[in-house]
Amino acid sequence: MNQARIDSNRVPRHVAIIMDGNGRWAEARGLERNAGHREGIESVREVVRAAHDLGVQTLTLYAFSIENWNRPRDEVGELMHLLEHYLEVEMEEVMENGIRVRSIGRLDRLPPSTRDAVESAIERSAGNRNMTLVFALSYGGRAEIVDAARQLMRDAEAGKIDPERLDEKTFAAYLYAPELPDPDLLIRTGNECRVSNFLLWQIAYAEIYTTSVMWPEFRKPHLVEAIADYQSRERRFGLTSAQVSDGSPSATPGRVPVTDEA
Ligand code: FPP
Repeated sequence: MNQARIDSNRVPRHVAIIMDGNGRWAEARGLERNAGHREGIESVREVVRAAHDLGVQTLTLYAFSIENWNRPRDEVGELMHLLEHYLEVEMEEVMENGIRVRSIGRLDRLPPSTRDAVESAIERSAGNRNMTLVFALSYGGRAEIVDAARQLMRDAEAGKIDPERLDEKTFAAYLYAPELPDPDLLIRTGNECRVSNFLLWQIAYAEIYTTSVMWPEFRKPHLVEAIADYQSRERRFGLTSAQVSDGSPSATPGRVPVTDEA
């Protein structure tokens, strides 16, 4: 789809993507599953570039879930290798485009060389401001909430936080990347319609877009299509349509309503 079809003033600030379908794409062509992951890298390249061109401020890619550790050893090894290779090859362009790399997830489980590559990309790009590219690695939404709760309990024990004053805003500050806005648009490729333990807290009000396109074939026109679809929707955040038309501040993108502010 043509980029001219989207309103550049209403581009979602944060797009999160569940990149699904690499294995099926490969199997349909008589190839081994890893060939799908390799082709998936081309989509990552193009979608990062496209998101930057379109003015998306934050792009989060579900690159490796905590459950993916249970995949065959060689597939896990290939995914780690591809991530390292991507960072090695793409960092120049990432820096030229002023993209800041971040990660969310239990990075301590990554092999040391993958972890080093991710940490060095984060460090090198820390001052960039044009777009934030978040890799969800060894990531699980429930694990993130448990990690936040663990730290919160430690702080409560140390007297730094009063349990009676805990509210959604305080809790959210304990998540992996509290400074990022919640996703406005969640895209899932690969003809599946589920959330798969991705950003469980943060997608409370995200618009969900699914497509039958397998990730290795998902390119800029598909991203434009997803954004155009997003722009055709009315985001109500629990309000009525009339309230939204009146311009209630609660219906402003990025302003996620907090229901239990203390
Ligand atoms: C799902 O396809 C995809 C993944 C498990 C990982 C996505 C990884 C990449 C695109 C490559 C590495 C990433 C980066 C960011 C450099 P699947 O294997 O579950 O597909 P299937 O459902 O068809 O089996």
